[in-house]
Amino acid sequence: MTIKLEYPEGATPLDPNELGGLKYKHITTHGELDELEQANIASGLRWLARMRRKDILSDDFAIELHRRLFGEVWDWAGAFRQTGKNIGVDPIQIGIQLRDLMDDARYWAEHKTYPPKEAAVRLHHRLVFIHPFSNGNGRHARIMADTVLDRVYGTEPIDWTAGADLQKIGERRTAYIAGPEGS
Ligand SMILES: Nc1ncnc2c1ncn2[C@@H]1O[C@H](COP(=O)(O)OP(=O)(O)OP(=O)(O)O)[C@@H](O)[C@H]1O
Ligand SMILES: [Mg+2]
Repeated sequence: MTIKLEYPEGATPLDPNELGGLKYKHITTHGELDELEQANIASGLRWLARMRRKDILSDDFAIELHRRLFGEVWDWAGAFRQTGKNIGVDPIQIGIQLRDLMDDARYWAEHKTYPPKEAAVRLHHRLVFIHPFSNGNGRHARIMADTVLDRVYGTEPIDWTAGADLQKIGERRTAYIAGPEGS
């Protein structure tokens, strides 16, 4: 493994074992990795646009979505994280907490507990807090939240970046990572 990755602020570093799950052994820079991931996400989004599953608010769908977004690049896509990170629950808690979250989110939708955007943001926040996967949790959670707004609530997606690229380090990313308290 020749790749040595530098991470933007708020990114979850991969451990050597997770890096070994890279399906393209020839890449050496983060730029190349970004491109491969971006292509994979684009194909995942095309899958998402065509797919007709109704069980969006289920752990099973959340897992499949992660696999579709990252599975061409990482062999652990769609598999729960096995190591601790600086963010996220204890790895042994992931399965139960993800199921609890989806049960709650289904309840919120059925009982109109929150306005759509608030429900989506709560789902996003708890998904990132659980941090089910080794990497890609931020992108997965944002796409998951938008999918719930579209398919479950029939409303517009969230404008996460206001045109900026969150992958790049910048004011917008810093504000996103810091959250409301930081602004
Ligand atoms: N200190 C922190 N406070 C709040 N959220 C954090 C913090 N560190 C990481 N995060 C969250 O974790 C996400 C990064 O997790 P991960 O690297 O698994 O996802 P990603 O999709 O690769 O990254 P990104 O969200 O940057 O596209 C961030 O988007 C943010 O939501
Ligand atoms: Mg990351």
